[in-house]
Amino acid sequence: EINEQPQVLRHLAATTHEQVEQLAALISAADNVFVTGCGTANNAGLEAQYFFSRIAKRQITAVMASEMAVVEPALGPKSVVIALSQSGETIDVLDAVRLSRGRGARIVALTNSEGSSLYRTADMSILLDCGPERCVLATKTYTAKLALLLMTAHALAGDPDAGRRAVAEGALLMESKLVDGEDTGDMDRVAAGLTDASSMFILGRQAAYPLALEAALKVKEVSYIHAEGFASGELKHGPIALIEDGTPCLIFATDPSVLRETLAGAAEVKARGARTIGFSQEDHSEFDVRVPIHGAGSATCFELAVSFQLLAYHLAVRLGRDPDKPRNLAKSVTVR
Ligand code: AGP
Repeated sequence: EINEQPQVLRHLAATTHEQVEQLAALISAADNVFVTGCGTANNAGLEAQYFFSRIAKRQITAVMASEMAVVEPALGPKSVVIALSQSGETIDVLDAVRLSRGRGARIVALTNSEGSSLYRTADMSILLDCGPERCVLATKTYTAKLALLLMTAHALAGDPDAGRRAVAEGALLMESKLVDGEDTGDMDRVAAGLTDASSMFILGRQAAYPLALEAALKVKEVSYIHAEGFASGELKHGPIALIEDGTPCLIFATDPSVLRETLAGAAEVKARGARTIGFSQEDHSEFDVRVPIHGAGSATCFELAVSFQLLAYHLAVRLGRDPDKPRNLAKSVTVR
């Protein structure tokens, strides 16, 4: 399923023009827009906030489905709620939709399951069209959501072609990590140095921050190693106390507009003994190890995503965990 992602992205870029334009029009006419989901879907919503703000200069608000009540007073007939759910059956998402509908909001579903409860209940449904995702960990459905939301942000900015180009570039960037549809083993080499970790931290700034959250979720779900994603600007407000000699810190330093600040965070953790693994276009003295990133701009999210998905996969395999069926987790969570 990780390897299928370039194909999934190309398919969405080629087939969803109309739906993307329709969603952009709904957003354009709305007073306020919320994006909701759980787990990985929530992380996709958090990332979408940056797409819309940067590309379309439009603020949208991500709210995890189980906390939807916090935005209830802001919901009304001119609100749009975009519900993200692979399964379309996650009870917290269905509850959030019910609450939003009760306030008169328009509901848009992005789901991989045609005919699911979410698909049927929404005013507008867009299929992720990834084919079945059997692994308990969401991978291709995560990047499919990112692709659709990125294209929608570009459509809202009046340049839908730019969105399709960004997604096509994302597919190519993913292929730089997957030669002939198979991974190149680079992330296995990084995983080999992390199997002894009891805890790791993943740092990102701005659009790389929700990616850090998703990377940490992937690692903890499947390897059972404690992993936390942090906004690197928050480090000095608490999390830096956790850094010990040898603590692995993954640093997503792919955005030139915040590179200086991101590297300052890397220097801070390194000075306290962290083992730094930088994901970046260029090498920097703050990194002990570097994972080369080739992309620039918003398509970089796809290259980072496939990299950390592969890292989590290899960690699981090296530690003897089942990469498809982690303990204690279900593919679809239908209980509160
Ligand atoms: C993803 O790796 C997780 N297993 C989990 O966070 C999942 O994304 C969440 O439960 C939401 O599922 P859904 O997309 O089917 O609503």
